[in-house]
Amino acid sequence: MNIMLAPMEGVIDSRMRDILTVIGGYHSCVSEFIRITDQLLPAKVFHRLSPELSNGGMTQAGTPVVIQLLGNTPEMMAANAHKAVELGAPGIDINFGCPSRLVNRKKCGAALLKNPVDLHDIVTAVRRAVAPHIPVSAKLRLGDKNTDLAVDNAVAVQEAGADFITVHARTRADGYRSPARWEWLARINENTRIPIVANGDINSVEDYLRCRQISGCDDVMIGRGAVSIPDLAKQIKCQQQGMAYTPITWDDICLLLCQMGISMEADVQDKHIGMRIKQWLVYLKRDYIEAQYCFNRIRKMTGFAEMKIAL
Ligand SMILES: Cc1cc2nc3c(=O)[nH]c(=O)nc-3n(C[C@H](O)[C@H](O)[C@H](O)COP(=O)(O)O)c2cc1C
Repeated sequence: MNIMLAPMEGVIDSRMRDILTVIGGYHSCVSEFIRITDQLLPAKVFHRLSPELSNGGMTQAGTPVVIQLLGNTPEMMAANAHKAVELGAPGIDINFGCPSRLVNRKKCGAALLKNPVDLHDIVTAVRRAVAPHIPVSAKLRLGDKNTDLAVDNAVAVQEAGADFITVHARTRADGYRSPARWEWLARINENTRIPIVANGDINSVEDYLRCRQISGCDDVMIGRGAVSIPDLAKQIKCQQQGMAYTPITWDDICLLLCQMGISMEADVQDKHIGMRIKQWLVYLKRDYIEAQYCFNRIRKMTGFAEMKIAL
C-alpha cells in the first residue's frame, strides 16, 4: 500500500514537501505541473519547480519527487520528459486533470479527456522518450463534462504503456465538489490491469478505509488532507501496520508553521512569508480549532517577523 503526496500548485511546493515527508508515511510526491508549449525548457525551470533535482530527485527525507508535465504536443512532452529525467527526475507524471479555464482553452489538462486518442499519443511519446526503469504515470479526472469516457481514457493510458494511473474521482465539471465518486474508481479498476491510485476527499483514516473498500484501490494520493492534517499519511500507515501512533499536537504544528517561515526568510519577502503562513492556517482550520484562534490573532499582521512571536 503506497500513499502519494499530491501536486498542489502554490500550496505543496518543495518546502511543504520537505516538512510533510519528514513527518513520514509518504511513498513519493508529485511536483506542481510544469507547463510545456513549443520549446525544450531550460534546466532552471525544472529546478525552480523541483529544487529536489539537486538532491537526487528526493526531498530532504529521501522521498522521491516525480516531475509533472502539462501540455498537449506529444513531441514536446517527450523531449521535456527526457530532459527532466536527464536532470535526475525519478519519474514523470502527465497532467490530464487541470480544470483551469486558461489551461483548458489551450486544450491542455482536463480538456484532453474528451479524446482518448490524444491521451494515448502523449503517453506513448513520453514512455518512449525515457528509460524503461523510469515510471511514467498519468493523473486523470473521470472526464470533462461527464463520466462517459472514464474507462476508455484509463484504458488508452494503460495501452500507451503507463506504469500506473492516478484518478481524481471527479469530472472537470465537478470541480472540487464533494463527495468524490470513489465508486467510479472501482469500475476503472475492473477494466484495467495496471495499478489505479485513488484520489479525492481522503481526509482522515476513516476516509482512507472507506475509499479502499469502495474503490478496491490499494494506493492513494492525498492533497488538501495532507495540508490540513500534516501527519495524515503517518496515521494511515500506522493504522494499516497495526502500530500504535499518537497524532502530533497543535504545539507541534506551530513549530511546523515557524519552520516553514524560517525556511523562506533567506529568499522571500517578509509579507509573502506572512501570506504563506495564513494560507496554511486556512487549510489547518478544517481540523484544528486552535488554527481559527491562531488565524484571528495574526490576521492583521502583515509579515512573518511579527507572526513568529505570536506562533
Ligand atoms: C490549490 C490546488 C492546486 C492543485 N494543483 C495541481 C497540480 O499542479 N497538478 C495536479 O495534477 N493536480 C493539482 N491539484 C489537484 C490535486 O492534486 C488533487 O487531485 C485534488 O485536490 C483532489 O484531491 P484531494 O481531495 O486529496 O485534495 C490541485 C488542487 C488544488 C486544490
